[in-house]
Amino acid sequence: MLDWLVSAIPIFKVVHIAALIMWCGGLLALPLMLSRHGPSVMADDYRMIRHATHITYTLCVTPAAVIAVIAGTWLIFLREAFEPWLFAKLAFVALLVASHAWIGHIVAKVAEEPTHQNPPQPFFVVVAVLIPILVILPLVLAKPAFDWIDFPEWLLTPRGGQLPFDVPSR
Ligand code: HEM
Repeated sequence: MLDWLVSAIPIFKVVHIAALIMWCGGLLALPLMLSRHGPSVMADDYRMIRHATHITYTLCVTPAAVIAVIAGTWLIFLREAFEPWLFAKLAFVALLVASHAWIGHIVAKVAEEPTHQNPPQPFFVVVAVLIPILVILPLVLAKPAFDWIDFPEWLLTPRGGQLPFDVPSR
């Protein structure tokens, strides 16, 4: 039953990777766009940049994040990836989500408070986004075993809520 779901794993992966490219790319572009919201920018340009920033955040970056997380969550179960590298990865995904929320807060602030025209230096925001990305990629590509950490058994095995179909072995 639901064999088609298992054979669709490559599609889930393509969707996951395509969405996270858009997500991470957007999170790196937004601080640079926000840096153009300074007081020296003329009113017309300011309106245009503010609009572009808003559209990028709400219609591109946030939907891409949601799609990446949904596809990634499906992959956890389809690939039975209950392994230490995944937990480490999820901790850094949480940091990425925090950076996402921080950028959203800045986008909202420059839109709602015309006086708040001094967004943080793009360097610091870009670093806050880059750190989790640069940790997540090696974790997911090398899948280190973390043998030196004694993980409890319940964290590494499914708790009986199995999917109603077989998943492919590695
Ligand atoms: C809640 C968010 C996420 C979840 C639940 C998740 C989960 C997963 C899972 C289970 C896989 C399949 C691994 C395998 O086939 O062995 C995967 C693949 C992958 N993920 Fe994520 N992921 C998330 C976010 C991210 C983010 C933010 C990045 C990068 C910044 C990322 C990068 C990748 C890459 C590059 C692959 C392909 C790895 C490979 O096929 O070897 N993921 N993800």
